[in-house]
Amino acid sequence: MTELNTLKSAGLFEKNVPRYTSYPTSPHFHSDVGRAQFGDWLAGLDTDKPVSLYVHIPFCERLCWFCACRTQGVTTITPVAAYVDVLLEEIKMFKAARPAGLKLARLHFGGGSPTILTPDMISRLSAAITDAVPFADDYEFSVEIDPTACTDAKIAAFAKNGMNRASIGVQDFNEKVQAAIGRPQTYELTRDTVDMLRRHGVDSVNIDMVYGLPHQGMQELKNTVSQVLSLSPDRVALFGYAHVPWMAKRQKMIPEASLPQPHARFEQAQTAAEIFTAANMQAIGIDHFAKPGDSLAIAARTGNLRRNFQGYTDDRCAALIGLGASSISRFAQGYIQNNAATTNYVKSIKAGGWSAARGFALGIADQTRARAIEALMCDFSFDLAALEAEFGDFAKPVRADCKRLAKQYPGFVRFEKGRFTILPEGRPLTRIIAGGFDAFNAPGDRHSRAI
Ligand SMILES: C[S@@+](CC[C@H](N)C(=O)[O-])C[C@H]1O[C@@H](n2cnc3c(N)ncnc32)[C@H](O)[C@@H]1O
Ligand code: SF4
Repeated sequence: MTELNTLKSAGLFEKNVPRYTSYPTSPHFHSDVGRAQFGDWLAGLDTDKPVSLYVHIPFCERLCWFCACRTQGVTTITPVAAYVDVLLEEIKMFKAARPAGLKLARLHFGGGSPTILTPDMISRLSAAITDAVPFADDYEFSVEIDPTACTDAKIAAFAKNGMNRASIGVQDFNEKVQAAIGRPQTYELTRDTVDMLRRHGVDSVNIDMVYGLPHQGMQELKNTVSQVLSLSPDRVALFGYAHVPWMAKRQKMIPEASLPQPHARFEQAQTAAEIFTAANMQAIGIDHFAKPGDSLAIAARTGNLRRNFQGYTDDRCAALIGLGASSISRFAQGYIQNNAATTNYVKSIKAGGWSAARGFALGIADQTRARAIEALMCDFSFDLAALEAEFGDFAKPVRADCKRLAKQYPGFVRFEKGRFTILPEGRPLTRIIAGGFDAFNAPGDRHSRAI
C-alpha cells in the first residue's frame, strides 16, 4: 500500500476531530463552573508568575463567508464604542479583583477585527489594561490585523502602546478564491500593511493562510505561498479550511461542490509545507512555520512550544485571562468562558458581575490527559514515564491508550521505553491520534476535517 492509502485507511480523509487548543475542548464546558470560580481563581493567582491577557473584539466591517470566528458585522462604529465602554468596565473589575503586584507578560487583541477600533479606543483600552496590570520586562503585545480595516493611525496607536507583534489575515490572494469566500484583499494592500507595521517598529509579523478553500487549486495555493514568502513573514499559520456550516451559518454561502476533495487538501498541505521549508522556514507543530531565529521556532526546538486558544505559542504563563464576549480564561484549576453572545456579556458586566458563563474544573485525570495531548500537538511525542512519576495512578489509563494506539496505528506511532511518539509518517494523523487520548471524544461529535 502507498503511504497515502495507509493514511486513508487510518481515517485521514473521513474523520472529523477537534483542533485541541484545549483539553477538554470547549463543547465540554458546562455551567457548574462560572462566576464563583472565576473570582476565586483570579484572586488566588501567584503574583510571582506573570499572566497573559486576551481581549476579544467581536466586530468586523466585512463578514467573510469562510470565517468560523465569533464575530458580527457592523456598518457604524456606534456598537463598537458601546462595547469598548463595557470592556473598560470589565478591566476595572479585573483591576479591583486581581492580587496586587501581578505583571503582564503577554497581551493579545483578537477577534473579529481589533483594527476596527479607532486610535482613541485603542489608546484607552491599552492604557486601562496596563494600569490594571503593568507589563513585565520582556512582554509581548500582539494584535490581529485585517489590512482592509486598518490605517496608519491605528497601527501608530497600537505601536505607541507597546504592540510588538502582529498577525495579518491573508487566506489566499487569488481573486476567484477571494470572491468565493467573500473576502477581497489585494497583495498590494497587504504588502503596504506589512511595510506600515515594520515602519512603526513591529518587527514580528505572522501571516494566516488557509488551504482547502473553494475554487482553490494547487496553482492558486502555490502562487499565494510565494506571494506570502515575498513579504518575508516571521511566522506563517497554514490552516485547513474548517467547513462547519452548522456552527458558522455564513459558510452556507460556500457550496460544498466548490471545495477541494480530501486527498487534494492533503496534497495542498504537503506542497505548501515543502515550499515553506525549502524557503528555510521551520515547520512547527501541525500547521505553523517560522524563521529559525523566531521565538516560536526556538521554542519548538527546545521543547518549550505550547498550545492555547490562539494556537501555537511560546507563552509559558500559567494563567491566561480572557476579557470580552466569548473569551476563554485558563487557570491552573481549569477553564472559564465568558458569555458567547455579546448582548449577554454586556448585560452581566453592566449589572456589576463577571460574565463567566461556563467552564471546566480540571481533575488530576484531566490534567494528565491534557498534558499528553498538548505535547502530541506540539512535539508529536510525550514522556509517559514522566507523567507516571508526576500523576501516579492517574496516568494508568493513558498507558493503556498508548498500548491500544500503538496497535491501531502500526508504522505511524512508536511506544517504547516509556515514550509515545507519532512518527514522521504519522504526522498528518496527529489530531486523530491525539483524539485517541481524549476521554470526552464521542464518535457522534461534529468537528472539522482531520486534514
Ligand atoms: C480572527 S481571524 C483574522 C483576523 C482578521 N479579522 C482578518 O480577517 O485578517 C483569525 C484567522 O482564523 C482563520 N480562520 C477563520 N475561519 C476559519 C475557517 N473556517 N477555517 C480555517 N481557518 C479559519 C483565518 O486564517 C483567520 O485569519
Ligand atoms: S476573517 Fe477576519 S474580517 Fe473576515 S469575518 Fe473573520 S474575523 Fe472578520
